[in-house]
Amino acid sequence: MLVVDGITKNFGGFVAVNGVSFEVRAGEILGLIGPNGSGKSTLFNLISGALRASAGSVKFDGQEIAGMPPDRVCHLGVARTFQIPRPFGSLSLMENVALSAFFGQEGKVTRPQAWRQAEEALALVNLPTDGVATPENLGAAGLKKLELARALATQPRLLLADESLGGLDEAEMDQAADMLDRVRRERGVTIIWVEHIMGVLMRLVDRVMVLDHGELIAEGLPREVAADRRVIEVYFGRDYEAHGESGQPAGPEI
Ligand SMILES: Nc1ncnc2c1ncn2[C@@H]1O[C@H](COP(=O)(O)OP(=O)(O)OP(=O)(O)O)[C@@H](O)[C@H]1O
Ligand SMILES: [Mg+2]
Repeated sequence: MLVVDGITKNFGGFVAVNGVSFEVRAGEILGLIGPNGSGKSTLFNLISGALRASAGSVKFDGQEIAGMPPDRVCHLGVARTFQIPRPFGSLSLMENVALSAFFGQEGKVTRPQAWRQAEEALALVNLPTDGVATPENLGAAGLKKLELARALATQPRLLLADESLGGLDEAEMDQAADMLDRVRRERGVTIIWVEHIMGVLMRLVDRVMVLDHGELIAEGLPREVAADRRVIEVYFGRDYEAHGESGQPAGPEI
């Protein structure tokens, strides 16, 4: 579904994303992890058109989308959530999400259709659909849910979920994972899920990629990646040596 080839982003002399190549298959959930500043959000910005790549290509269903403006990428079926949610504070939750439904489908939906799609998206993330509730009293977890509903209302086939789950407790993190699982099962949406906490992500994803300083340093099944020497170094430092009860070196617990 998505083929990224040598994508690169320079900010002046600084290389935030450096020659990253990978593919995403329809129907999978691909985890994207890496330390703060490793280039995860920048990579999403390059795919979604928020940033123009310095080099490289991004093909969605065979069509080159690198360099397209973000609205066109969205209309082709790629939605993204933002790490820092910025809903319209003066609008109701329903209005916030209905707006995304209109935008994502180029205004080609009727008002009742957009309203129904907003209702469906909010119901999926367990937020009120009464048309009265506003984003005002949503905590960090609620704002993430709204962000997801807004992305889903655009009716994507590929979802780029940028979720730094900071500020969420363990139950809320599990809920966030369950929600993405439902998005795939019930809507057939393919997902790239960014997260820097490994444990919660590893339970759900089919494959995982690891970025470090803008470079893809590992890619594979969660178990393989968690046992990868370079990944362990990135997360625990070069001198880290873990020994399980058996005395054998062990990767991070997943
Ligand atoms: N518009 C910009 N101009 C200059 N530098 C930027 C810009 N956007 C990002 N960067 C830099 O690029 C690097 C990658 O940032 P990015 O936000 O992609 O990291 P991240 O992996 O999403 O981090 P986090 O886990 O904290 O969300 C960082 O060093 C960041 O400061
Ligand atoms: Mg980020």
